[in-house]
Amino acid sequence: MESPFKADILKGKVALVTGGGSGIGYEISLQLGKHGASVAIMGRRKHVLDSAVAALHSHGIPAIGLHGDVRKEDDAARTVESTFKHFGRLDILVNAAAGNFLVPAEDLSPNGFRTVIDIDTIGTFRMCREALKYLKKGGPGKDPSTGGAIINISAILQFGASWYQIHASAAKAAVDSITRSLALEWGEDHDIRVNGIAPGAIEDTAGVVKLAPEEMISKVKQKPLSKFGEKWDIAMAALYLASEAGKFVNGTNLVVDGGQWLSKPRF
Ligand code: HXC
Repeated sequence: MESPFKADILKGKVALVTGGGSGIGYEISLQLGKHGASVAIMGRRKHVLDSAVAALHSHGIPAIGLHGDVRKEDDAARTVESTFKHFGRLDILVNAAAGNFLVPAEDLSPNGFRTVIDIDTIGTFRMCREALKYLKKGGPGKDPSTGGAIINISAILQFGASWYQIHASAAKAAVDSITRSLALEWGEDHDIRVNGIAPGAIEDTAGVVKLAPEEMISKVKQKPLSKFGEKWDIAMAALYLASEAGKFVNGTNLVVDGGQWLSKPRF
């Protein structure tokens, strides 16, 4: 689908997208790139990163792939440094890396719980923390008058309760809290806007393939407020939040789900 935004709204900007090799993270990378940004994508699977970078290049987007795991301190630091070294600045950080699986709470080990918290929640904070010095107003390579933007990919499952995802629910609730805390502190101190996007069920993503049994998918498709969204819908929200269009938006969690979370039982 064609973008309603002008093609140069992110001209000269540099974005780093964790989990940018596939799914929602890749579509965000593609759309940021199509609107003028240079893009670094971070991920754990090298072959996935390589083909994503090739695809971005085929659209004429300056892009690099950085192999790493948001759970590792060194990987987070190296990824941010490499982005800066390669492109000379950093303006936008998108935290899209996530982990999830369906498991009844009584069968989930503390380590399974910790693994998802470590990827989604601590991984998000870790990347924000490493990126701070480059994103802040007056940071290396930046325009001295403006800071950058952070977008944390959230979810809707934690607004109430969801079956078999106690770990992801807790992790995303904490991500939403991190978004608000950093928006307050870093908005005030460093002119960095920090926002979230809460996608509903988005077709062709690991979230839906991994977490939604076939009968749930057909149920969702029958409800007017519960249709599937496209990765494009999330990328358009990211463009809005990352660009000047969202310059007065800070600390919000933009729900992009077609109103799905309002209906019960939720997906
Ligand atoms: C129960 C499980 C499990 C499962 C893993 N564990 N899978 N427990 N049921 N299906 C437990 C393991 O037993 C182990 O605990 C601990 O979790 C760590 O598992 P590992 O396999 O060693 O971890 P790792 O290889 O690092 O893989 C991380 C992962 C994996 C999160 C478990 O699924 C992953 O890499 N996922 C990334 C891709 C992904 O999930 N994307 C979907 C995002 S969707 P013990 O105690 O045995 O040591 C999304 C949308 C959210 O985020 C909103 C949806 C509506």
